[in-house]
Amino acid sequence: MTRYRIAPSILAADFARLGEEVSDVIAAGADLIHFDVMDNHYVPNLTFGPMVCAAIKPYASVPVDVHLMVEPVDALIEAFIGAGADIITFHPEASHHIDRSLALIKNAGRQAGLVLNPATPPQVLEHVFDKLDMVLLMSVNPGFGGQAFIPHTLDKLRQVRTMLDAYRAHSGRRIALEVDGGIKTANIAAAAAAGADTFVAGSAIFGAADYAAEIAAMRRELAAV
Ligand code: DX5
Ligand code: ZN
Repeated sequence: MTRYRIAPSILAADFARLGEEVSDVIAAGADLIHFDVMDNHYVPNLTFGPMVCAAIKPYASVPVDVHLMVEPVDALIEAFIGAGADIITFHPEASHHIDRSLALIKNAGRQAGLVLNPATPPQVLEHVFDKLDMVLLMSVNPGFGGQAFIPHTLDKLRQVRTMLDAYRAHSGRRIALEVDGGIKTANIAAAAAAGADTFVAGSAIFGAADYAAEIAAMRRELAAV
């Protein structure tokens, strides 16, 4: 049976109380803390960097899942390793040497992943499966929280699920399949049925009055898949 993980994105948290928000959402049942890094270059928005990651790390009793929307990536990968990131994912378009960038993460003993934008074909994964711990499918164009889920992502989840299952069958290695953008209780089950096992949710969780009730509602949906 698939173990599902819920990864609240602190992009939608109260930045003035970030440590407390991280503690609260973990107490409410978060499995990962999703940390969206935007550089106003790869994406048209600017968020936070390795110093903020290091600052929230003591509050994070679950793994910190750093999503790099930056270009270039290698120097920031090293900075985030220093800042305590547990999982680091980046966009293949943002690195000239994808295999080398993944190796930087793996050689530091952290989990590595690639992020595919809605229009990025999954074939980019084929030659680097051995270095991947996670594949993240964007279900919105990256840069902003609160956008609507792009329905075509369900087809792409099924396609990547098939690729990851085939890889697991011959290698024995399981690679996580995460989905990010517009996830809420109304569509989380559909994303799970299509093959996702890890769910980023920003506005749905931090926009709720009761984080625990929202995460519990998501888990009820997942339990019925
Ligand atoms: C978008 C980010 C997402 C975002 C998701 O570029 O990668 O992680 O925070 O936010 P919601 O859940 O509000 O769509
Ligand atoms: Zn993200």
